[in-house]
Amino acid sequence: MQTQNLIGGNWVGAEDGTSVQVVNPARDEVIAEIPSCGTSETRAAIDAACGARKTWAAKTAGERGRFLSDLAGLMRRDVDRLAGLMTAEQGKPISEARGEIAYAASFLDWAGEEGKRLTGDIIPASAADKRILVLRQPVGVTGIITPWNFPAAMITRKLGPALAAGCTVVIKPAELTPLSALAIGELACEAGIPPGVVNIVTGNASDIGDAMFDDDRVRKLSFTGSTKIGQLLMSKASRNLLRLSLELGGHAPFLVFDDADIGLAVDAAVACKFRNAGQTCICANRFYVQDGVYDEFTNRFAAAIKDLQVGDGAREGVDIGPLINDAAVEKVETHVEDARSRGGKVLVGGERVRVEGLADRFYAPTLIEGMTPGMLLAHEETFGPVAPIARFVHEGEAIESANASEFGLAAYFFTRDASRVMRVSEALEYGIVGANDGGPSTAQAPFGGVKHSGFGREGGRYAMEEYTEIKYVSWRV
Ligand code: SIN
Repeated sequence: MQTQNLIGGNWVGAEDGTSVQVVNPARDEVIAEIPSCGTSETRAAIDAACGARKTWAAKTAGERGRFLSDLAGLMRRDVDRLAGLMTAEQGKPISEARGEIAYAASFLDWAGEEGKRLTGDIIPASAADKRILVLRQPVGVTGIITPWNFPAAMITRKLGPALAAGCTVVIKPAELTPLSALAIGELACEAGIPPGVVNIVTGNASDIGDAMFDDDRVRKLSFTGSTKIGQLLMSKASRNLLRLSLELGGHAPFLVFDDADIGLAVDAAVACKFRNAGQTCICANRFYVQDGVYDEFTNRFAAAIKDLQVGDGAREGVDIGPLINDAAVEKVETHVEDARSRGGKVLVGGERVRVEGLADRFYAPTLIEGMTPGMLLAHEETFGPVAPIARFVHEGEAIESANASEFGLAAYFFTRDASRVMRVSEALEYGIVGANDGGPSTAQAPFGGVKHSGFGREGGRYAMEEYTEIKYVSWRV
């Protein structure tokens, strides 16, 4: 297991020798000590990224694509080791961790290919002796700050397009889940990606972030995390007019209409809500079900939730692992207690689950009916395995409830009516809409939100644009 930082191709510790512990959330055991780095190590990483920038950008897109596809291949080769590491540091079920490694590798493959299609333009000029060229060039050194809920995929979703576009990077992984990032760094070295192209610094988030914001050689920052931190980063970015991509919080509505395929909707609801124990920015956070199918959907959803197995994610067959830390469990408890106190009825779960020999961080998959707009569950991201549900009568009412949120990342709805698919897709104020689909994430599609869920898109050709600048050349021939 790699526990040192990657700076300029060397594996190093913090300059002052300090470290922080990485804890397995299911077992409350320390599994590693990693460097507690700050300003000077981040500057060294930026130096390295700057040093490597020109030669990396000068490679052909095909050469950069080959490095990315080699890295993706190595991740697939080591899927079991990487998934085990991820489950140990993050807690998610091992089958989901394996899926995340495949998902993470797909961003590298896709971006590596798409880099070959990054083209500019030639625009007809207004004078016979002029030509107008539009070039697309790498934005330069890029900071990448990632969250703990998807320790591998949130890195490669940024790393893939950044590298494919010709940028070099400094990655700051989440303090809680740095081991997956360091393992990807190790494989990047094995893939032959030149020193300085990928740098990884762990430790104090605000010192590392500030070192990126204070250094005008850093030209782009891509962040996934909470809206609160995103707002803070945006104010800091003004110092050097740093370009930002922010993938922030979500609060996804999930609408089920009378004409929906209920079996499909229930399966999607379970997968979408309880993946990663509900610790997903795009997971369904509130359910609105039309009167005519309310009882059938609720009964079938409740039955499916009761079948979910809670336990140590390292054990095959477990569906719901621990929440990431004590604060996460307390937040879920606060939301559930608030719902109870406002008349919500717990149909399934509604309490912690004690798992023999493990930490007290497991929360039962929960279904609560009678959600009202005043409940915390109805307007805050819960980030836990809780599904609140409300009944609606008219389509317009459901859309109004769905859009009554400051967030705008993902929304889902289920119907068999083709014209409703178009009408509701257009009406939902969200960056991602799943129409009869609870799992829209994929490497080639644009992932990102509107309103307080941030801006910028990851995935597909849209991601490539985030890491390039447009240069206009006016040429008198
Ligand atoms: C996230 O929580 O933002 C990632 C979810 C995904 O990529 O599907």
